[in-house]
Amino acid sequence: MNSRIAVVPGSFDPPTLGHLDVITRAAELYDELHVLVVHNPEKHAMLPIAQRLSLLEQSIRDAGLAGNIVVASWSMGLLVDYCVEVNAGVLVKGIRSQVDVAYETPMAIVNRGLAGVETVFLLPDPAHALVSSSLVRQVAGLGGDVSAYVPPAVAAFLDTGARDL
Ligand code: PNS
Repeated sequence: MNSRIAVVPGSFDPPTLGHLDVITRAAELYDELHVLVVHNPEKHAMLPIAQRLSLLEQSIRDAGLAGNIVVASWSMGLLVDYCVEVNAGVLVKGIRSQVDVAYETPMAIVNRGLAGVETVFLLPDPAHALVSSSLVRQVAGLGGDVSAYVPPAVAAFLDTGARDL
């Protein structure tokens, strides 16, 4: 597997500025970066996968990135199956706190054991340390302004397009 090809997986429900920060850093570190929307059956989703893909694509384009980034989704099995399919040797995860380390460590060990895929933890800008998709979902769901926490395309969508969901 190629250690110059990396995958940033997540629910991205919705994408936040914290996600975009990790994507930006990872795109600078790797030759090819796959931003992968993974269906997580344990979470009750707010946005359909297609909507999350479209918001990610738009946010990545608006941030002037896109060059070496592929946006895709995966709901057909293990995350490492996708890594094998695209020959990616690295998973990249953003770490905001010790809670994230505790949550991510067992998954990183299992993913390495399953397919030899390494996990790299990146520290986002502290400005985004408290931002999470679940908080954004809660605030947006109650009619609050989330524009400080999400890319402009996501804020615009949550302000208007999400009303029909
Ligand atoms: O944004 P999230 O919800 O924290 O992302 C979690 C995600 C999707 C990265 C995680 O649930 C995941 O890796 N799912 C893939 C399922 C899998 O491969 N499980 C076995 C190894 S951990």
